[in-house]
Amino acid sequence: MLKINICGIDFKNPVFLAAGIMGETGGALKRIANSGAGALCTKSVGIEKRIGHRNPTMIEVEGGFLNAMGLPNPGVKEYIKEIYEIKDYLKRNGVKLIGSIYGKNPQEFSKVAEIMEPYVDLIELNISCPHAGEGYGAQIGQDPNLSNRVVSSVRESVDIPIIAKLTPNVADIKEIAKAVVEGGADAITAINTLGPGMVIDIKTKKPILSNKFGGMSGKAIKPIAIRNIYDIYSVVDVPIIGVGGITTGEDAIEFMLAGASAIQVGTGIYYRGYDIFYKICGEIEEYLIENNLKLKDIIGRAHEF
Ligand code: SIN
Repeated sequence: MLKINICGIDFKNPVFLAAGIMGETGGALKRIANSGAGALCTKSVGIEKRIGHRNPTMIEVEGGFLNAMGLPNPGVKEYIKEIYEIKDYLKRNGVKLIGSIYGKNPQEFSKVAEIMEPYVDLIELNISCPHAGEGYGAQIGQDPNLSNRVVSSVRESVDIPIIAKLTPNVADIKEIAKAVVEGGADAITAINTLGPGMVIDIKTKKPILSNKFGGMSGKAIKPIAIRNIYDIYSVVDVPIIGVGGITTGEDAIEFMLAGASAIQVGTGIYYRGYDIFYKICGEIEEYLIENNLKLKDIIGRAHEF
């Protein structure tokens, strides 16, 4: 009942793991695969090892979390050892793997994508991290021309589907969505974290995160994510993967009504445990049965009004 085809790939369900959560090791990814996810998105990896920001890198706030991890990762050549280990296991269990990658220019994105391609089913381009530093992440995704060049460079370098992950921290997400689709993106993931925001400890009088600022995730950003999905769906004709504050099947359905074909869960794991993937799938199924609907009937349905 929840099977879905996106970019020519069959997924057993539309509830995926978001980049950056439980994606650092093969073992952690396997645990999420065993928790009912239809696909797993890896931690974002780059060409070289990166230590990331000093701790504290994450803080709970009302309605979610602020994080500024700083894209810590061992570099793509080391990281693929993690996914090599679980590749057959994922295949046997029908769980797809999305390789999240970042770079500082189109050439670097392409190099990482080429190395990652044999180990994953799709590539997600992180052009949206709001605190990754000069030249990275949202600094690319806020510029339609640069976003277009990154996508078209990767498009020329790999044959598997490419997803562009967009930042909500722009004046008009429609313009960026059109630019990445023109560049050759087969799908769009939206949204990455909001902000960045800041929390100050009133005792020490210092910002809590070592990076001072961090991207906001969690329930509080859901209405912003829904609006962005709605806007993107209205201007492009590629599948959208919705992310941002999803913790229940009801949340997932709201994203689908706005135009998402699938959704990703990140912070939600903290609130409902690893088996949130099974729980959300069950809740979506219940809604479809009660309302006598199929999954395809609800995607983009809110645009009819
Ligand atoms: C991080 O590693 O800092 C988070 C990545 C992201 O927000 O895209």
